[in-house]
Amino acid sequence: MHFSRFASQLSNDAGIISLMEDLGSALGTDKKMYMLGGGNPSHIPEIEAYFREQMLAIASDTQLFGAMVGEYDGPQGNEGFIRILADFFNELYGWPIGAENIAITNGSQASFGLLFNLLAGDSPDNDSITNNFRQVLLPLTPEYIGYADVGLSERPLFTARRPIIENIDETFYKYHVDFKQIDIDDHIGAVCVSRPTNPTGNVITDEELAHLSELTKANNTPFIIDSAYGVPFPNIVFSDATPLWGEHIVLCFSLSKLGLPGVRTGIIVADAAIINRIRNANAIFNLAPGSVGPALVRQSIQSRKLIELCRETLKPYYERRRDEAIAQVKDQMAGLPVRIHQPEGAIFLWLWFEGLPISVQTLYERLKERNVLVIAGHHFFPGLEADWQHKHECIRMTYSSDSESVHRGIAMIAEEVRRAFDEA
Ligand SMILES: Cc1ncc(COP(=O)(O)O)c(C=O)c1O
Repeated sequence: MHFSRFASQLSNDAGIISLMEDLGSALGTDKKMYMLGGGNPSHIPEIEAYFREQMLAIASDTQLFGAMVGEYDGPQGNEGFIRILADFFNELYGWPIGAENIAITNGSQASFGLLFNLLAGDSPDNDSITNNFRQVLLPLTPEYIGYADVGLSERPLFTARRPIIENIDETFYKYHVDFKQIDIDDHIGAVCVSRPTNPTGNVITDEELAHLSELTKANNTPFIIDSAYGVPFPNIVFSDATPLWGEHIVLCFSLSKLGLPGVRTGIIVADAAIINRIRNANAIFNLAPGSVGPALVRQSIQSRKLIELCRETLKPYYERRRDEAIAQVKDQMAGLPVRIHQPEGAIFLWLWFEGLPISVQTLYERLKERNVLVIAGHHFFPGLEADWQHKHECIRMTYSSDSESVHRGIAMIAEEVRRAFDEA
């Protein structure tokens, strides 16, 4: 059998593969696993009950059920749902967007795969300045592991920058964009940030966002803002974060962190020319995006119930889980050189063990032996060419898992880190 060049890019060592396999294999075992690795959202009873009710209402209505499972939507996504979304963003934020600015995908991971390859990679320009190739700039790493391997070109799709580190107090620190290192020219096909950021829980400030927006706009470069955890849904944001729209901005939303990762629904809001290509890609690769997610949330978006659920239930739930996890880290890791990135959103703590005598890959393996799954930090720096010791001193742990797992998991992380320092 001869695989293609494309197949060689689906290499087994992509970080996202081991992450998703860890998630899958943990589900298929009887052993108690302490799942602090993946990005699975919590099962929040009130939220699940609400969507279950919606699903039952659809299932008991012959016409709604038939429309949900028995028909292909158009390649841009369900037209009625897209119109509801356009009205929603118009009314909520006053953004002048129409149905031509919105497309549905099979999850935002699929959105990024399409967007990055549409806007960067090999270009047909015959342009000696760019050498017929453009990259995606990640202005602040650490950044989401899932971007790293989606490029279809042989050349590296990402270029990334280290952050400035602000020490907030003895426990917390925060990354900022280092604008001295940001140079957006014709070699850059798109700029992308996740806000809140996976893995750190950082929310880049309104000022940083506005500055990046100005720089990208001035160069006519699309600016992708990954809002998988952002406002207005799921709104897992604990600091002030104003959403931003402009003709050069590409907003990516997802239903996953509402507690619906299984329905695989992503939403892209962008310039009509980009949406047009996404629609075509949907038709070519998928015929149409799935209809279940849009059917399930349609009503709650139209009635604004979704916003209320996020504000009143989902966000306070994650805020409480975050505070518990921080208290446990402080308690269990007292005396260890651990610092936490200020968790302003998302569902993770990003722990920095400065001077750790072993690499975090070794720490990951030792923890996995004890059935504790975390993610080693070095996976979260796609496009950062130079090595940086900091990458090997950080781990991401999720606090969305059940409380016992988070509690016991943190205790075992503390034991292994202590052991590493004691052995040195
Ligand atoms: C920052 C970020 N973006 C995108 C995704 C992809 O999510 P989905 O494909 O489930 O919409 C994730 C998933 O964890 C994420 O954390």
